[in-house]
This record gives sequence, structure tokens and C-alpha cells, in this order.
Amino acid sequence: MHQGPFEKFHGRRPLWTVVVLKLVLVITALALLGQANAIFSLGIPVLVLHVGALAAIAILVIWPRAHGSLAVATEKSIPGAAKTPHIGILLHSAALYDTLAWILTYGRERAFREKMLSFARLKPGEAVLDVGCGTGTAALLAKQRVGPAGRVDGVDASAEMVARATAKSRRAGLSVSFTNATAQQLPYEDGEFDVVLSTLMLHHLPKTGRAEFGREAFRVLKPGGRMLIVDFAKPPRQKRIFRLHRHGHVDLDKVAADLGQHGFKIVEQGDVGAKRLRYLVAQPR
Ligand SMILES: C[S@@+](CC[C@H](N)C(=O)[O-])C[C@H]1O[C@@H](n2cnc3c(N)ncnc32)[C@H](O)[C@@H]1O
Repeated sequence: MHQGPFEKFHGRRPLWTVVVLKLVLVITALALLGQANAIFSLGIPVLVLHVGALAAIAILVIWPRAHGSLAVATEKSIPGAAKTPHIGILLHSAALYDTLAWILTYGRERAFREKMLSFARLKPGEAVLDVGCGTGTAALLAKQRVGPAGRVDGVDASAEMVARATAKSRRAGLSVSFTNATAQQLPYEDGEFDVVLSTLMLHHLPKTGRAEFGREAFRVLKPGGRMLIVDFAKPPRQKRIFRLHRHGHVDLDKVAADLGQHGFKIVEQGDVGAKRLRYLVAQPR
């Protein structure tokens, strides 16, 4: 049976049916509200308040799903990705991503990135692979650390992020190679890298994708190499209404246990010291 792209990404139900269903619900609710106003004369301010609340709920409910669909849009454009339909959540607004990163770090993005990278303890001459590299900011800093004798590669499943990362490396005069590929199928030989980086990427992968990435990271690392993962930790339990809008996260204890199954041992872990960010460093056993 032919599978449309939405079925591929969401598995159980096509995305468009979810969006249409939710729109129907919201429109019905608005129509009922209009009727109620006619019958009970609620008054304009109360009506405006209710419509505003409904619109806010509609945006909160519909947007995260629609956002996920962006991943599907470029799925076909990724070489070799056809075998891994559950790619993850791809980002396409590369310039916006950099602007947001700057705003969310209060203009101190470089310090924030340096802090994350410090856990990888990069040394001059090392070969580094940044997986889910986004616009390449961390990869470029990594290149400065490993120096001319070192090598840095970045991969991202979003063509737009790769294009911006490439442009940034040219502007900075730094030789970093960025490739449009997935974390689940890294286009490298076995044992090519001393270090694999995954910063803020893992929460974009579906659970199956995380396991595939673990296997791939192990494969491309040299014996004695290391992998740094930085990501948002699971938040404390929240009421359901707040859960609608929470940021993606991963259970890093579970990630650590899974990495153990892929041949890694965890050599270090802790808090990054910003937001709910945690890090772990793993080495092939
Ligand atoms: C939140 S961004 C993090 C980017 C960068 N590592 C950073 O620290 O700013 C997550 C990135 O992962 C990419 N991504 C999502 N799924 C992916 C996959 N399966 N393989 C490779 N990259 C992926 C997205 O396109 C996005 O650029």
C-alpha cells in the first residue's frame, strides 16, 4: 500500500486529519460560543476573552503537530534517507535559528557554546564530527580548537541548515565540511573520528532514531574515541495543560543505558549549568 509522507512520519494517523479534526473542534466551539452569546447576551468583553483563549489553545494544539510536518517536506531531498522514514524534527529557518539562539542566550551564545564544547576536551589535531550540527556554530568553534592539523565535519538532515553552516564557514575562513545527511546513516567510514558531538540534537530524533544514531556513532568513532551528548533533561511532572507546550527533552539516564547496549561506557555526566541542560561523555568499551 502506498504511504503518504504524513503517514510515514506520524505512523498511526495522517497529520492532515489531525489538523482538520482539531480545526473542526475549534470552529464548533466558536459557533457554540456565538450561540451562547446570542442566547445569554454575554457581552463583547467576555466574548473577546473567550475567543482569545480558544485561539490560543488552537495555536498551542495545532502548531506542534504542524511543526513536525516540516520534517516530511525535505525527507525526499536527503540522500540515502529513504530507508529511514522516521528521521526526526528538522529545522528549516536557519537564519531564524541563529537569531533565536542569540536572543535566548542573551547575546552570549559563544560563551554558552564554549561551555558545552569544554566537556569534549578537544585537542589540536583531532577529527571531530558534529551530528545535527544546525547552522554550524559549534562545529566552527570546534575547528578553532582542533586547529589546522585537525578536521571537523558537520552533518544535518536539513539542507537549509547545512547551506547556512557552509556559508558561515566560508565567511569565517575555516575549513569545515558540512553534509546533508541523517544521524541514522552517517556517510563516513568506520573509525574515522576521535570525537562525535551531539548538542541539542537528540531530542529531535524519534526513539528508534536515537538507537540507530548510537550504533552509527559507535561505528564512526576510533577505538578510544569519545562522544559528547548535550540535551534537555526530562522536566519535573507538569499538569497536562502545561505539557501541551513543553520543550522537547530526553531521558538522559535512558540514553546512557541504551548507549551501554551499543558498546559505550559512560565516563562522565552532569549539569551544563544552563536551563535544564545535561551532558554525558561516552567512550567505546
Ligand atoms: C536544535 S537543533 C541543534 C543544532 C546544533 N547542534 C546546535 O547545537 O545548535 C537540532 C538539529 O538537528 C537536526 N536534525 C533533526 N533530525 C535529524 C537527523 N535525523 N539527522 C541529522 N540531523 C537532524 C535539525 O535539522 C536541527 O538542525
